[in-house]
Amino acid sequence: MAQLWGGRFTKDTDQLVYNFNASISFDKKFYKQDMEGSIAHVKMLGKQGILEAGEAQEIVEAIKEIMREVDEGKLKISHVYEDIHSFVEATLIDRLGDVGKKLHTGRSRNDQVALDMRLYTRQEVLETDGLLEGLLRAILTIMEQNTDTFMPGFTHLQKAQPVTLAHHMGAYFEMFKRDRQRMEDIYQRMNYCPLGSGALAGTTYALDRYDTARQLGFVGPTLNSMDGVSDRDYLIELLSALATVMMHLSRFSEEVIIWNSNEYQFVEIDDAYSTGSSIMPQKKNPDIAELVRGKTGRVYGALMSLLTTMKGIPLAYNKDMQEDKELTFDAIDTVKGCLALFTGMLSTMKFRKERMEESARHGFTNATDAADYLVNHGVPFRDAHGIVGKLVLYCIQKHAAIDDLSLEELKQISPVFEADIFEAVSMETCVEKRLTIGAPGQKAMEQVIALEKEYLEHDWKKSIADWETALLE
Ligand code: ARG
Repeated sequence: MAQLWGGRFTKDTDQLVYNFNASISFDKKFYKQDMEGSIAHVKMLGKQGILEAGEAQEIVEAIKEIMREVDEGKLKISHVYEDIHSFVEATLIDRLGDVGKKLHTGRSRNDQVALDMRLYTRQEVLETDGLLEGLLRAILTIMEQNTDTFMPGFTHLQKAQPVTLAHHMGAYFEMFKRDRQRMEDIYQRMNYCPLGSGALAGTTYALDRYDTARQLGFVGPTLNSMDGVSDRDYLIELLSALATVMMHLSRFSEEVIIWNSNEYQFVEIDDAYSTGSSIMPQKKNPDIAELVRGKTGRVYGALMSLLTTMKGIPLAYNKDMQEDKELTFDAIDTVKGCLALFTGMLSTMKFRKERMEESARHGFTNATDAADYLVNHGVPFRDAHGIVGKLVLYCIQKHAAIDDLSLEELKQISPVFEADIFEAVSMETCVEKRLTIGAPGQKAMEQVIALEKEYLEHDWKKSIADWETALLE
């Protein structure tokens, strides 16, 4: 047991209590952020004359050295300490003696941990966004190559109308684009520095909170110290956005699994991204897609868990909040892993275009277009719908597609049909006539692809990085 407090206690902490309370096993994950925060704090204390300039310098150098040693594996973060904050402070005191004891001046672990978690998740938001961007690029490549690859579009998992693979992929592009927008939005809102909030009521030391905020790349300090130490909204927003990413990945995975099934054979997952069976030699299973679909549950769970943890907590800091860490770390790591693997699987997956087209040609995906043909020849839509319904029934009995019938057969069902019906219900026309923006027609898709490309050229992360560089100059 090694803890920073104990003066007012007459007994040692029970070992089980100590273990239950300790967070070092997981908060060591942000050792770097903890030390960066301490460096900024001490530099500010030096500038403000709260520590002597020489002392501040000495502490900063020692923390940098500790960070280097931990990075290089020379110094192990020992679990005898209660948390990462205690480990750093105790190590510093071991090395510097009394000067090290000045590190925690004007600070509480409450604002320290609030800062560490923000610094850590802020970086993770950028990394998650980068992975989402990679996925978008993989999707866009497939879109560019498949504006004329016909496939059935489904509703109720029943063939509905023909679309193209580019169009189908474009739907996912939009979803993951919104996921990125959420990352940017969360980043902007969370980018305020809680350091200097103290335990809950600020401090009587003349801290310069604008200085530490600037040093750490924040827009500015948080404006209420009680909120500063107890706000976990940004984590809830992040978990909600991550849950949405997983929901999108899970839908996509489900489609990949269906498309990869023996019945569909729309795609073939690359060997490198498939797994075999220990008993059935013929098997090639889509385990990666299934795992991504399965892991969605734990990310949803993290969101529900933190919402529930936070709901009954009075102001300001309470130990319940320590629970934010493991589940947030797990959710972030899960999403990042899933994004990386899914992108790899998608970009190596083979699309069996001929199977997709063949499937689109059957199942009456052109029935709506046959009805529209009649409407264009003066038949009211509701009547046209009924006529084509009969036509479909006739085809089902004959085991034929609409375009397999002769003009005579068509005319028996409605005299309005003329020879140009075949062209009107061909796959090419069915798709190509759909040219409103957002529809699968090739020209419309090309316009959208150009817009998506332009979107990918503007990386919000770059403007953040530029802004931070300017801030530090
Ligand atoms: N491990 C704690 C947490 O994660 C750090 C803050 C501890 N503060 C306190 N007053 N006990 O929330």
